Amino acid sequence: MRVNRKVSAVAAGVAIAALTLGACSGSSGSGSSGGSGSGDEVEVFTWWAAGSEKAGLDALVGVFDDQHPDIEFVNGAVAGGAGSAAKDLLQSRLQAGDPPDTFQAHAGMELQDYINAGQLEDVSGLYDEFNLREAFPEDLMELLTQDGKIYSIPSNIHRANMLWSNRAVLEDNGIDPDASYASLDEWFADLETLQDAGVTPLSVATAWTQVHLLETILLADLGPEGYSGLWDGSTDWEGAEVTAALEDFEQAMSYTNDDRDGLDWPEATQMVIDGNAAFNVMGDWAIAAFEEQDKQLGTDFTAAPVPGTDGVFDFLADSFTLPTGAPNPEGSEAWLETVSSVEGQTAFNAAKGSIPAREDADPADFSEYQQSAMESFSQDTIVSSLAHGAAVPVSQLNLITDATSKFTSGASDLAAFQSELAAATAGS
Ligand code: GAL
Repeated sequence: MRVNRKVSAVAAGVAIAALTLGACSGSSGSGSSGGSGSGDEVEVFTWWAAGSEKAGLDALVGVFDDQHPDIEFVNGAVAGGAGSAAKDLLQSRLQAGDPPDTFQAHAGMELQDYINAGQLEDVSGLYDEFNLREAFPEDLMELLTQDGKIYSIPSNIHRANMLWSNRAVLEDNGIDPDASYASLDEWFADLETLQDAGVTPLSVATAWTQVHLLETILLADLGPEGYSGLWDGSTDWEGAEVTAALEDFEQAMSYTNDDRDGLDWPEATQMVIDGNAAFNVMGDWAIAAFEEQDKQLGTDFTAAPVPGTDGVFDFLADSFTLPTGAPNPEGSEAWLETVSSVEGQTAFNAAKGSIPAREDADPADFSEYQQSAMESFSQDTIVSSLAHGAAVPVSQLNLITDATSKFTSGASDLAAFQSELAAATAGS
């Protein structure tokens, strides 16, 4: 293992202040004009800066250190769930010609943004070199490919439409912790019971987690076809079905904690872990937080699809890129080799809660939950996550997030919210 690790997790609040410096990465190679690095280091830009997410990154770095002992990993992580601070900072660095050696990007429309801006190199040569052409699911490859060129290497697949609950809190309030809710209304009846008992029924955090909740409610109410139609224009954002879904979202938000806007996902999930809330809707990176604290699935907590979304896998995948002008492209390639390897994907995903993107990883290396997620991914209807870069470009997601914040903070009513969502996605 290397010892001289440089860590530069930047707190969300100071990320923007640091952005002109480029030096916030702590990388000596950072700030050069590109391609001129010594090749003995790699700055890896992610938002896995703390807690269980950092544990996942650390596991991947452990494999990297074994596979590439001569290349130093430089941690360019920027704190803030779902890249809420990292993506803005990254954009500024890319525009200033100061790219990291590799960065995390979601497969799908988010990746498309970087491709359209000419910020990524084609890495299809690495797919040949590392023998990856058959390694990943075809659908996923489509999201990474344009005009025959492949722009990143996937590290994992997460499921967004998951509901986490504290079994003791539910039992103490006369609610069956194994209840499977066929609809949002059935679930809301139990949330009502919890609220009457003075328990926080549903924990949520800052704006992006509210968009995450919104996405799963749209999916529950519109079904996979109607939900997917929101992104290709075949579902009318102004229609009555969307109005009904937004009413359900409003109702769901009425069961949430008042201090939500000051929290990020780890704190909201922690409320369920600690028994301070009954439920949390979060992607399956949440399971890594439960497990890190020795909580047992089925004993301490339950993991289930969000009510009304059973049989649907709300999909997202993290992937790693080779930015145009990366200062240490040899380091980038070494990182991509580790990310793509069975060893890298096994170590990373076992710690992160996701499932490997590679189809040849051994399910026996993963937890009971992850084995069930693998099964769901192979047989469920797959839809693209809104909050995590699969369904819409970053610019649209930003508009949707702003509209959602306005609505949940009381600055707009439901009709205005619906119009703003329609306007945000117009042209998609
Ligand atoms: C997602 C990302 C996940 C996880 C999550 C919370 O966007 O794909 O890997 O990090 O954000 O930060």
